Amino acid sequence: MPIENVSGTGADVALIGAGVMGEAVLVSLIDAVGAERIRISDGRAEHGAAVAQRHGVRWCATNTEAVDGVGAVVIAVKPKDVGALATEIDGVLDAAALVVSIAAGIPTAYLESRLGGTNPVVRVMPNTPATIGHGVSVLSAGTSATADHLDRTEQLLAGTGTVLRVDEAYQDVVTGISGSGPAYVFYLIDALAEAGVLGGLSRDVALDLARATVAGSGAMALASGEHPAILRERVSSPAGTTVAGVRELDERGVRAAVIAAVDAARARSVELGRDLP
Ligand SMILES: NC(=O)c1ccc[n+]([C@@H]2O[C@H](COP(=O)([O-])OP(=O)(O)OC[C@H]3O[C@@H](n4cnc5c(N)ncnc54)[C@H](OP(=O)(O)O)[C@@H]3O)[C@@H](O)[C@H]2O)c1
Repeated sequence: MPIENVSGTGADVALIGAGVMGEAVLVSLIDAVGAERIRISDGRAEHGAAVAQRHGVRWCATNTEAVDGVGAVVIAVKPKDVGALATEIDGVLDAAALVVSIAAGIPTAYLESRLGGTNPVVRVMPNTPATIGHGVSVLSAGTSATADHLDRTEQLLAGTGTVLRVDEAYQDVVTGISGSGPAYVFYLIDALAEAGVLGGLSRDVALDLARATVAGSGAMALASGEHPAILRERVSSPAGTTVAGVRELDERGVRAAVIAAVDAARARSVELGRDLP
């Protein structure tokens, strides 16, 4: 059932930036409010118009046309483009319209100041599995966004997968875990497959094994709700093969490397939010 109203102002929703993540969010927006209430704009006119046609939503040649009279706008451009975009739409966007930004590292305070300080702003960190409805989107409220604005944002993004909420102070570490995390998991799949090829399997079979193992283990971790250490212990029989493999991971510092990778991504997210024009 489409949600009736997104912010108490206009009924329509605008999406600015129809790239990889923007299109994933678009699918969720269509689920939430219906294609007839959605408008999109994008820096690449031909690409944006094709996305609009593919999903049956209204294409707008300018960002100001897209946001004029809407109840909510989702900003899905690159972080470096957010400031200029906010300045461009300020004045046309209704002062009470909900602003949802998925730009990595961009604080709500930055958007609030660029938009004259009146709009409720919700910052979101999605991840790429959102493109198949299996992502995690993490929401944080800006200073004037209420619980109701968070609820409406959650409804708009429900089609991307799981939706969680954290205080904005934690968005940088969230970026390091779930925002960048799919890349670490794809890296693991690639490494598992490489080991299969080393062991004599064809690359296709090795990749099938690696993909299915990671997908099945992730699904099991979710479905069981058990701590991952318990699940690992259950497949590690005394003097068996798995415990021998896990010892190698420990000796090579893989756990510490994962923690360092998340921390490096967190630090980069902090930098992105600091070096704004
Ligand atoms: N991809 C991820 O894994 C991921 C995860 C979490 C969050 N995010 C965030 O999602 C946002 C989008 O990422 P993406 O990977 O979807 O990027 P993308 O594929 O490059 O898409 C961004 C789109 O926005 C358009 N654009 C740029 N400036 C614009 C403007 N002023 N007005 C209208 N359209 C404009 C771009 O067009 P041009 O090419 O003409 O500039 C491009 O089509 C980023 O802020 C990123 O931090 C991404």
